[in-house]
Amino acid sequence: MRIILLGAPGAGKGTQAQFLMAKFGIPQISTGDMLRAAIKAGTELGKKAKAVMDAGQLVSDELIIGLVKERIAQDDCKAGFLLDGFPRTIPQADAMKENGVDVDYVVEFDVPDEVIVERMAGRRVHAGSGRVYHLVYNPPKTEGKDDETGDDLSIRPDDEEATVRKRLGIYHEQTKPLVAYYQAEAAADACAYLTIDGTQPVEQVSSLLDEKLS
Ligand code: AP5
Ligand code: ZN
Repeated sequence: MRIILLGAPGAGKGTQAQFLMAKFGIPQISTGDMLRAAIKAGTELGKKAKAVMDAGQLVSDELIIGLVKERIAQDDCKAGFLLDGFPRTIPQADAMKENGVDVDYVVEFDVPDEVIVERMAGRRVHAGSGRVYHLVYNPPKTEGKDDETGDDLSIRPDDEEATVRKRLGIYHEQTKPLVAYYQAEAAADACAYLTIDGTQPVEQVSSLLDEKLS
Protein backbone atom coordinates (compact mmCIF):
# COMPACT_ATOMS: atom_id res chain seq x y z
CA MET A 1 0.00 0.00 0.00
CA ARG A 2 1.41 3.36 -1.07
CA ILE A 3 -0.36 6.51 0.03
CA ILE A 4 0.31 10.23 -0.50
CA LEU A 5 -1.11 12.64 2.08
CA LEU A 6 -1.78 16.02 0.53
CA GLY A 7 -2.87 19.14 2.40
CA ALA A 8 -1.89 22.52 3.73
CA PRO A 9 0.45 22.94 6.69
CA GLY A 10 -1.59 21.96 9.74
CA ALA A 11 -4.26 20.12 7.76
CA GLY A 12 -3.64 16.97 9.85
CA LYS A 13 -1.26 14.93 7.69
CA GLY A 14 1.07 13.99 10.56
CA THR A 15 -1.83 13.26 12.91
CA GLN A 16 -3.59 10.90 10.51
CA ALA A 17 -0.26 9.35 9.47
CA GLN A 18 -0.12 7.82 12.97
CA PHE A 19 -3.49 6.16 12.38
CA LEU A 20 -2.67 4.95 8.85
CA MET A 21 0.74 3.54 9.85
CA ALA A 22 -0.98 1.39 12.45
CA LYS A 23 -3.82 0.39 10.11
CA PHE A 24 -1.64 -0.71 7.19
CA GLY A 25 1.64 -1.52 8.98
CA ILE A 26 3.60 0.80 6.67
CA PRO A 27 6.22 3.42 7.58
CA GLN A 28 5.54 7.15 7.50
CA ILE A 29 7.94 9.11 5.32
CA SER A 30 7.63 12.69 6.54
CA THR A 31 10.10 14.91 4.72
CA GLY A 32 9.53 17.59 7.39
CA ASP A 33 10.43 15.12 10.20
CA MET A 34 13.48 13.92 8.23
CA LEU A 35 14.71 17.49 7.78
CA ARG A 36 14.11 18.32 11.46
CA ALA A 37 16.11 15.19 12.43
CA ALA A 38 18.95 16.33 10.14
CA ILE A 39 18.95 19.76 11.79
CA LYS A 40 19.08 18.16 15.24
CA ALA A 41 21.96 15.90 14.18
CA GLY A 42 23.83 18.87 12.70
CA THR A 43 24.39 17.20 9.30
CA GLU A 44 25.23 19.07 6.07
CA LEU A 45 21.62 18.65 4.96
CA GLY A 46 20.40 20.04 8.28
CA LYS A 47 22.67 23.06 7.97
CA LYS A 48 21.32 23.80 4.49
CA ALA A 49 17.68 23.30 5.51
CA LYS A 50 17.44 25.16 8.84
CA ALA A 51 17.19 28.79 7.72
CA VAL A 52 14.87 27.88 4.85
CA MET A 53 12.49 25.94 7.12
CA ASP A 54 12.49 28.53 9.91
CA ALA A 55 11.50 31.13 7.31
CA GLY A 56 8.60 28.91 6.16
CA GLN A 57 10.02 28.41 2.68
CA LEU A 58 10.55 25.21 0.69
CA VAL A 59 13.83 23.32 0.61
CA SER A 60 15.11 22.77 -2.96
CA ASP A 61 13.48 20.05 -5.07
CA GLU A 62 16.87 18.53 -5.75
CA LEU A 63 17.68 17.97 -2.06
CA ILE A 64 14.22 16.63 -1.23
CA ILE A 65 13.98 14.29 -4.22
CA GLY A 66 17.37 12.77 -3.33
CA LEU A 67 16.31 12.31 0.28
CA VAL A 68 13.04 10.55 -0.60
CA LYS A 69 14.61 8.33 -3.27
CA GLU A 70 17.13 7.08 -0.74
CA ARG A 71 14.44 6.50 1.89
CA ILE A 72 12.01 4.53 -0.27
CA ALA A 73 14.81 2.25 -1.45
CA GLN A 74 15.16 0.93 2.12
CA ASP A 75 13.88 -2.53 3.06
CA ASP A 76 11.04 -1.41 5.33
CA CYS A 77 9.41 0.39 2.37
CA LYS A 78 9.09 -2.77 0.25
CA ALA A 79 5.50 -3.44 1.37
CA GLY A 80 4.53 0.20 0.98
CA PHE A 81 4.79 3.60 2.63
CA LEU A 82 2.95 6.73 3.54
CA LEU A 83 4.27 9.97 2.07
CA ASP A 84 3.58 12.95 4.36
CA GLY A 85 4.69 16.33 3.01
CA PHE A 86 6.04 14.98 -0.28
CA PRO A 87 5.53 15.65 -3.14
CA ARG A 88 4.71 19.31 -2.68
CA THR A 89 5.76 20.78 -6.01
CA ILE A 90 5.08 19.64 -9.59
CA PRO A 91 8.78 18.78 -10.19
CA GLN A 92 8.70 16.53 -7.08
CA ALA A 93 5.60 14.72 -8.41
CA ASP A 94 7.19 14.39 -11.85
CA ALA A 95 10.33 12.91 -10.26
CA MET A 96 8.20 10.20 -8.60
CA LYS A 97 6.60 9.36 -11.92
CA GLU A 98 9.93 9.32 -13.78
CA ASN A 99 11.28 6.91 -11.18
CA GLY A 100 8.30 4.60 -11.66
CA VAL A 101 6.96 5.12 -8.12
CA ASP A 102 3.24 4.40 -8.45
CA VAL A 103 0.80 5.08 -5.62
CA ASP A 104 -2.53 3.51 -4.66
CA TYR A 105 -4.18 6.47 -2.94
CA VAL A 106 -3.79 10.23 -2.87
CA VAL A 107 -5.68 11.65 0.12
CA GLU A 108 -6.30 15.38 0.27
CA PHE A 109 -7.24 16.99 3.61
CA ASP A 110 -9.34 20.06 2.98
CA VAL A 111 -9.10 22.69 5.76
CA PRO A 112 -9.64 26.49 5.44
CA ASP A 113 -6.67 28.75 6.22
CA GLU A 114 -8.23 30.40 9.29
CA VAL A 115 -8.81 27.01 10.99
CA ILE A 116 -5.17 26.20 10.30
CA VAL A 117 -3.81 29.39 11.88
CA GLU A 118 -5.72 28.56 15.08
CA ARG A 119 -4.54 24.94 15.08
CA MET A 120 -0.89 25.80 14.71
CA ALA A 121 -0.97 28.10 17.73
CA GLY A 122 -1.88 25.10 19.90
CA ARG A 123 0.35 22.46 18.31
CA ARG A 124 2.89 20.62 20.46
CA VAL A 125 5.21 17.93 19.04
CA HIS A 126 7.37 15.07 20.22
CA ALA A 127 10.55 15.69 18.26
CA GLY A 128 11.87 12.13 18.58
CA SER A 129 8.90 10.33 17.03
CA GLY A 130 6.96 12.97 15.07
CA ARG A 131 3.86 12.43 17.27
CA VAL A 132 1.66 15.51 17.20
CA TYR A 133 -0.68 16.97 19.83
CA HIS A 134 -2.91 20.01 20.27
CA LEU A 135 -3.50 21.76 23.58
CA VAL A 136 -7.28 21.63 23.10
CA TYR A 137 -8.16 19.28 20.20
CA ASN A 138 -5.72 16.43 20.83
CA PRO A 139 -4.14 16.89 24.27
CA PRO A 140 -1.49 14.50 25.65
CA LYS A 141 -2.48 12.34 28.65
CA THR A 142 -0.06 14.30 30.86
CA GLU A 143 0.32 18.02 30.20
CA GLY A 144 3.48 18.83 28.23
CA LYS A 145 4.60 15.16 27.95
CA ASP A 146 4.60 12.61 25.13
CA ASP A 147 2.10 9.76 25.76
CA GLU A 148 4.52 6.94 24.94
CA THR A 149 7.93 8.13 26.18
CA GLY A 150 7.04 10.79 28.78
CA ASP A 151 9.56 13.13 27.06
CA ASP A 152 8.89 16.87 27.05
CA LEU A 153 6.87 18.20 24.11
CA SER A 154 8.07 21.21 22.13
CA ILE A 155 6.81 24.00 19.85
CA ARG A 156 7.96 23.96 16.23
CA PRO A 157 10.00 27.07 15.31
CA ASP A 158 7.93 27.55 12.13
CA ASP A 159 4.59 27.65 13.99
CA GLU A 160 4.71 31.36 14.72
CA GLU A 161 1.65 33.00 13.10
CA ALA A 162 3.52 35.13 10.51
CA THR A 163 5.50 32.05 9.40
CA VAL A 164 2.34 29.93 9.24
CA ARG A 165 0.73 32.53 6.96
CA LYS A 166 3.80 32.50 4.74
CA ARG A 167 3.71 28.67 4.57
CA LEU A 168 0.02 28.82 3.62
CA GLY A 169 0.82 31.25 0.79
CA ILE A 170 3.49 28.89 -0.54
CA TYR A 171 1.07 25.97 -0.23
CA HIS A 172 -1.54 27.71 -2.40
CA GLU A 173 1.06 28.74 -4.95
CA GLN A 174 3.26 25.64 -5.25
CA THR A 175 1.47 22.64 -3.73
CA LYS A 176 -2.23 23.20 -4.51
CA PRO A 177 -1.58 22.55 -8.25
CA LEU A 178 -0.93 18.92 -7.20
CA VAL A 179 -4.66 18.55 -6.54
CA ALA A 180 -5.43 18.89 -10.28
CA TYR A 181 -2.29 16.86 -11.10
CA TYR A 182 -3.40 13.83 -9.06
CA GLN A 183 -7.06 14.20 -10.00
CA ALA A 184 -5.91 13.83 -13.61
CA GLU A 185 -3.84 10.76 -12.63
CA ALA A 186 -6.92 9.28 -10.95
CA ALA A 187 -9.05 10.00 -14.03
CA ALA A 188 -6.48 7.98 -16.01
CA ASP A 189 -6.81 5.15 -13.40
CA ALA A 190 -3.24 5.59 -12.17
CA CYS A 191 -4.42 5.96 -8.54
CA ALA A 192 -7.50 6.65 -6.44
CA TYR A 193 -8.09 10.26 -5.27
CA LEU A 194 -9.99 11.11 -2.09
CA THR A 195 -10.86 14.48 -0.61
CA ILE A 196 -11.53 14.42 3.14
CA ASP A 197 -13.12 17.22 5.15
CA GLY A 198 -10.24 17.81 7.56
CA THR A 199 -12.19 20.19 9.81
CA GLN A 200 -13.89 17.31 11.61
CA PRO A 201 -12.50 16.02 14.93
CA VAL A 202 -9.37 13.83 14.74
CA GLU A 203 -11.23 10.55 15.46
CA GLN A 204 -13.88 11.30 12.86
CA VAL A 205 -11.26 11.96 10.17
CA SER A 206 -9.59 8.66 11.14
CA SER A 207 -12.83 6.71 10.87
CA LEU A 208 -13.54 8.22 7.45
CA LEU A 209 -10.08 7.07 6.33
CA ASP A 210 -10.73 3.66 7.86
CA GLU A 211 -13.94 3.37 5.87
CA LYS A 212 -12.62 4.65 2.52
CA LEU A 213 -9.15 3.11 2.33
CA SER A 214 -8.83 -0.65 2.09
P1 AP5 B 1 6.27 19.67 7.24
O1 AP5 B 1 6.78 19.18 8.53
O2 AP5 B 1 5.84 18.72 6.21
O3 AP5 B 1 5.13 20.73 7.54
P2 AP5 B 1 3.75 21.05 6.76
O4 AP5 B 1 3.46 20.38 5.50
O5 AP5 B 1 3.79 22.52 6.70
O6 AP5 B 1 2.70 20.38 7.62
P3 AP5 B 1 2.58 20.36 9.16
O7 AP5 B 1 3.49 19.32 9.72
O8 AP5 B 1 2.73 21.77 9.68
O9 AP5 B 1 1.06 19.98 9.33
P4 AP5 B 1 0.30 18.57 9.30
O10 AP5 B 1 -0.60 18.54 8.12
O11 AP5 B 1 1.23 17.42 9.49
O12 AP5 B 1 -0.63 18.78 10.57
P5 AP5 B 1 -0.58 18.09 12.01
O13 AP5 B 1 -1.09 16.70 11.92
O14 AP5 B 1 0.75 18.31 12.64
O15 AP5 B 1 7.38 20.63 6.57
C1 AP5 B 1 8.06 21.60 7.30
C2 AP5 B 1 9.03 22.34 6.41
O16 AP5 B 1 10.00 21.42 5.87
C3 AP5 B 1 8.43 23.02 5.17
O17 AP5 B 1 7.93 24.31 5.46
C4 AP5 B 1 9.65 23.07 4.22
O18 AP5 B 1 10.54 24.10 4.59
C5 AP5 B 1 10.34 21.74 4.52
N1 AP5 B 1 9.83 20.65 3.65
C6 AP5 B 1 9.20 19.51 4.06
N2 AP5 B 1 8.87 18.74 3.01
C7 AP5 B 1 9.30 19.42 1.89
C8 AP5 B 1 9.21 19.14 0.50
N3 AP5 B 1 8.63 18.01 0.04
N4 AP5 B 1 9.74 20.04 -0.35
C9 AP5 B 1 10.35 21.18 0.10
N5 AP5 B 1 10.46 21.50 1.40
C10 AP5 B 1 9.93 20.63 2.31
O19 AP5 B 1 -1.71 18.97 12.77
C11 AP5 B 1 -1.52 20.33 13.06
C12 AP5 B 1 -2.17 20.65 14.42
O20 AP5 B 1 -3.59 20.48 14.33
C13 AP5 B 1 -1.72 19.72 15.57
O21 AP5 B 1 -1.70 20.45 16.75
C14 AP5 B 1 -2.85 18.66 15.62
O22 AP5 B 1 -2.99 18.08 16.92
C15 AP5 B 1 -4.06 19.47 15.23
N6 AP5 B 1 -5.06 18.68 14.49
C16 AP5 B 1 -4.81 17.73 13.53
N7 AP5 B 1 -5.99 17.25 13.04
C17 AP5 B 1 -6.98 17.93 13.71
C18 AP5 B 1 -8.41 17.87 13.64
N8 AP5 B 1 -9.04 17.03 12.81
N9 AP5 B 1 -9.11 18.70 14.45
C19 AP5 B 1 -8.47 19.57 15.32
N10 AP5 B 1 -7.12 19.66 15.41
C20 AP5 B 1 -6.38 18.85 14.62
ZN1 ZN C 1 3.35 17.28 9.67
